[in-house]
Amino acid sequence: MSKLLITKPLETIMAEAQEEGAHTLKRALGPFNLIMLGIGAIIGTGIFVLTGQAAATYAGPAIVLSFILAGLGSTFAGLCYAEFASLIPIAGSAYTYGYATLGEIFAWIIGWDLVLEYAFGAATVASGWSGYFVSLLRDVGIQLPPQWTAPPGTRMVLYHGRWSPLGTILPALRAAKVNPAAIPHVTAHLNLLALIAVVIVTAVLIVGVRESANINSVMVTIKLCVVFVFIGLATAFVLHHPSVTAQNWHPFIPPNTGHFGDFGWSGIARGAAVIFFAYIGFDAVSTSAQEAKNPQKDMPIGIIGSLLICTVLYIVVAGLLTAIVPYNILNVSDPVAVGVDAIGIHWGSILVDAGVVAGLASVMLVMLFGQSRVLYSMSRDGLLPKWASRVHPRFRTPWITSLAVGVFAAFFSSVLDISELAQLVNIGTLLAFVIVCSGVWVLRVRRPNLKRPFRTPWVPWIPILGVLISLGMMASLPLVTWIRLVVWLILGLFIYFFYSRSHSKVRNAKPVPVSKSEF
Ligand code: ALA
Repeated sequence: MSKLLITKPLETIMAEAQEEGAHTLKRALGPFNLIMLGIGAIIGTGIFVLTGQAAATYAGPAIVLSFILAGLGSTFAGLCYAEFASLIPIAGSAYTYGYATLGEIFAWIIGWDLVLEYAFGAATVASGWSGYFVSLLRDVGIQLPPQWTAPPGTRMVLYHGRWSPLGTILPALRAAKVNPAAIPHVTAHLNLLALIAVVIVTAVLIVGVRESANINSVMVTIKLCVVFVFIGLATAFVLHHPSVTAQNWHPFIPPNTGHFGDFGWSGIARGAAVIFFAYIGFDAVSTSAQEAKNPQKDMPIGIIGSLLICTVLYIVVAGLLTAIVPYNILNVSDPVAVGVDAIGIHWGSILVDAGVVAGLASVMLVMLFGQSRVLYSMSRDGLLPKWASRVHPRFRTPWITSLAVGVFAAFFSSVLDISELAQLVNIGTLLAFVIVCSGVWVLRVRRPNLKRPFRTPWVPWIPILGVLISLGMMASLPLVTWIRLVVWLILGLFIYFFYSRSHSKVRNAKPVPVSKSEF
């Protein structure tokens, strides 16, 4: 049992982080790249797709409060990530932090759990991307065959010139007394668009980190421009039509319908647990620690900087979106574009569609990047087979892992529904947050004298609040999401006991003497 809780000595981790050479990752990222990497991972499907869906189905205009709640939880967790990322600047992120503090079995659980965050996260974003891509093509008069734009078995109906999944459009059809069987409908085969998107991004990632970082910066800039254009257009509308805003925001918290999560305060909580997806990504900055030029100083800047910028933008965008249009029309695959279109600015919606198509690509890039780096670290520790950490001699990227992750994410993006994917990603990420927040506190107690380039303020209160808010959001997710999490973790433990345990390098290593200089 004690071996299950064996920790990886911090000295070994730090020595690995210092390694240089052809088999290691290339250090090419400065603070600006890291903030861009963070924003690249954060702003995406959450704000551009899930905000509309969550406002329409759970919280109404009070989705703004959901954003504040999820933002608070993420900020507390972000401060804990920042302490770890500056102390243990290595590609494994939460996985490595768990290894150093709580023990091997926890490290494995987090590493396995991070697949939910990154690989399934990339799949979710690819699914969101396909919705905006279809919308962009429709803007320019091209209608893609709907059979190839949604997961298998999805019933698609044509209403007001748009093909939409029947499940999302049913309330509108009912309100308009339209019989779904009487309008054109088809059953989808596969979300081929999402699959193609993941394949292209994977190819870019394999070619190299500097190239990916450059492409990322361009796409992040485009994405930020879209957000600012939306804020500008929506603010102008609100200032000219204050009565429309007053009407759309009334009631600000729609009354609960009698079911947990259907509006009211429980709807705000469930809304927070869903749009929490929008905040995921700042932790991906920490997976690039071994590619950062000066990780100890720049990791906290990248994590906290990107998180704060995005939190402010989200609260503003969510408030404006529900102010300009009634929240109940937002349950569509491209709600921000629909919002802009509804206020009569057609060019604005084309611009939003185009920008989001570029912007979401950067999210996929960072998610897939993060996933391959975590698996790389697990393989270097012997918990996964050696081939998973093989670095390409020319590109200096973990290409086999990147390829395997790409195939996995491409498959799931093409067959699963976006909201189910997002909820699974959220529960997995929240679990990682719980472990990271606890780990900061544990390490403060066990190794109080370690030199911490960045210290989380008010320990243990910030970690405790991070744990409580994360657990609260997890509790607001549906039972089926919990069952999926448990099944996933059981599968992971199976692999751990039959492979990783016997191959672990830490278990088989000779003890490393503790360096006195730290104390
Ligand atoms: N936060 C990222 C998004 O919303 C994952 O797409």
